[in-house]
Amino acid sequence: MPTQTAANLRVLISRQQIAQRVAEIGAQISKDYSGESVVLVGVLKGSCIFLSDLARAIELETTFDFIAVSSYGAGKQSSGEVKLVKDVDTPVQGKNVILVEDILDTGLTLTYLTKLFEAAQPRSLRIAALLDKPSRRIMPIQPHYYGFQIPDEFVVGYGMDYAEKYRNLADICVLSEAGDKS
Ligand code: IMP
Ligand code: MG
Repeated sequence: MPTQTAANLRVLISRQQIAQRVAEIGAQISKDYSGESVVLVGVLKGSCIFLSDLARAIELETTFDFIAVSSYGAGKQSSGEVKLVKDVDTPVQGKNVILVEDILDTGLTLTYLTKLFEAAQPRSLRIAALLDKPSRRIMPIQPHYYGFQIPDEFVVGYGMDYAEKYRNLADICVLSEAGDKS
């Protein structure tokens, strides 16, 4: 059996629940931006599966771009420092930008990215986060669209990793491993 099915993984949100919720968010975005186009800006790498599914649930002219920021590294604990590692390829000025993230946790990453993108003068700027961990928030920031609110547990799957592993799990799972969460 692959290690991915080991006992240290517990399904928190099933693939069916994810699919249904992503379809709902896509429908909401299609309604909110009716008659306009949107640019989905995915934060690499965790958001890529969410972005892929969300894009196909949006019935608007939609383009993609990607950015990368420095993040948790190999552990579970944020360094608290955010750096842009890769910028967008196409200017976002005058466009409807939706930042697509896997998790809104402390909010440090999306606070930083919101400031950065506002400076580039998009027509509008919103956040779509698959997961929201409100109890962990340090910065006062909320997602405009979110899939699920979850408790303070470390999750993997559907794009999210622990030390680059588990991104290809179809369900969102809680990882209980001898970790460095403290
Ligand atoms: P924030 O800046 O604290 O909001 O962190 C956001 C980033 O931390 C997310 O984009 C994830 O990459 C990562 N992260 C936070 N919680 C988890 C988790 O439970 N599993 C995997 N990555 C996480
Ligand atoms: Mg991330």
